[in-house]
Amino acid sequence: MSNFMIAGNWKMNCGPSEAKKLSDDLAKRWPSGSFQCDVVVSPPSISILSVVDALKGTDIATSAQNVHTEDSGAYTGEISTPMVKDAGCSYVIVGHSERREYYGEDNDLVAEKARKVILDDLTAIVCVGEKLEQRKSGNQEKVVMEQLDAVLNKITIDHAPKLVIAYEPIWAIGTGETASPKQAQEMHLFIRNFLKERWNEKRSSEVKILYGGSMKPANAEELLSQNDVDGGLIGGASLKEESFSGLIEIAEKLS
Ligand code: PGA
Repeated sequence: MSNFMIAGNWKMNCGPSEAKKLSDDLAKRWPSGSFQCDVVVSPPSISILSVVDALKGTDIATSAQNVHTEDSGAYTGEISTPMVKDAGCSYVIVGHSERREYYGEDNDLVAEKARKVILDDLTAIVCVGEKLEQRKSGNQEKVVMEQLDAVLNKITIDHAPKLVIAYEPIWAIGTGETASPKQAQEMHLFIRNFLKERWNEKRSSEVKILYGGSMKPANAEELLSQNDVDGGLIGGASLKEESFSGLIEIAEKLS
């Protein structure tokens, strides 16, 4: 496996001034060449420019949290892949469970977005994960398989290097409750095997599979030590320089 990825999802937090302050603190702590892993932050779209500017001279990449499937047009409130590229992003989070749940994004739309992001040469961080009831009824693998299947039907094996998958059990997001390292590993292995079946061993190993859901410095080491956990997508703990840096330190130590 290559390096870990530590990706912060700031959600609807940090307007331009706050985002600049957090990015300045990260830039001070992590100058260029100070880590091996892939580090990404995903501010709200209005703060992307201030973050990209503050992170110049570091190896921290910037991600958008969502994009439309078209390049431009009459879609009030939306932003597109050419726009986020122009602003300096190299990643886009696609299909976060909050977008699926609150904005009605279904598997087809998420797959269309992932395809658009990847064809436009950005890396898609595609989120998958089950609800609590689905886990309780033992359907977690079926749910995740359907979410993944929709995306893989829209891209090809050659797109593997542009795909990152984030497994985020919905019951663990923002709740303080994490999947156990065993539960995380089981699902990550299921995802890896699914990729292997659809593509092949080499390509499946090129896709980073992140865990998300209440990851923080106190529980990251155990989660990141699992064979198929290649990093984390972090919400709450990415909003403070100290905890986000703590996660980067753990990933560096384990690399
Ligand atoms: P959390 O969020 O770390 O606050 O649980 C993770 C996510 O939703 O990406």
